[in-house]
Amino acid sequence: MDKKTSELLNEQINKEFYSAYLYLEFANYFEKRGLAGFAHWYEVQAQEERDHALLFYRYLLNNDEPVTLGAIAAPESGFSSDEEVLKAGLKHEKYVTSLIDNIYAAAYANKDFRTMQFLDWFVKEQGEEEKNASDLITRYALFGSDAKGLYMLDSELKARAYSAPSLTL
Ligand code: FEO
Repeated sequence: MDKKTSELLNEQINKEFYSAYLYLEFANYFEKRGLAGFAHWYEVQAQEERDHALLFYRYLLNNDEPVTLGAIAAPESGFSSDEEVLKAGLKHEKYVTSLIDNIYAAAYANKDFRTMQFLDWFVKEQGEEEKNASDLITRYALFGSDAKGLYMLDSELKARAYSAPSLTL
């Protein structure tokens, strides 16, 4: 594998664990707010991000590439409103999309079709994650300012079930 592609895949392990950490911080924020459904939704999201990290880790190992695990940065915190958290989620997912696209570009430049195929799942996943984050912002804007609406939205988010990624290696 090309060195740059391998390095970017390594960095992505760290970025995905950071994402898990960030969403855990979001859950922490909502738990303190008394919105257990939002907190649960982000805890499930954190689990998904951990799974993403493990997929990059496993992909490198399966291809005999070195794995280097670095320090995970402290997540952004100190949010002052629900909307700020939700918007930070969408901003973060757009950033992750740019990271995936960047790895894809490196693989493409080196005709690394195997890595491109591996990344295809993440390209699609990022589309879904951006939509989920954007939908949450829209729905909060519609229902969040009304106590009953917020209660119903929180109850709905509480029902999110964790499911393992459909990509297996
Ligand atoms: Fe692993 Fe939310 O991207």
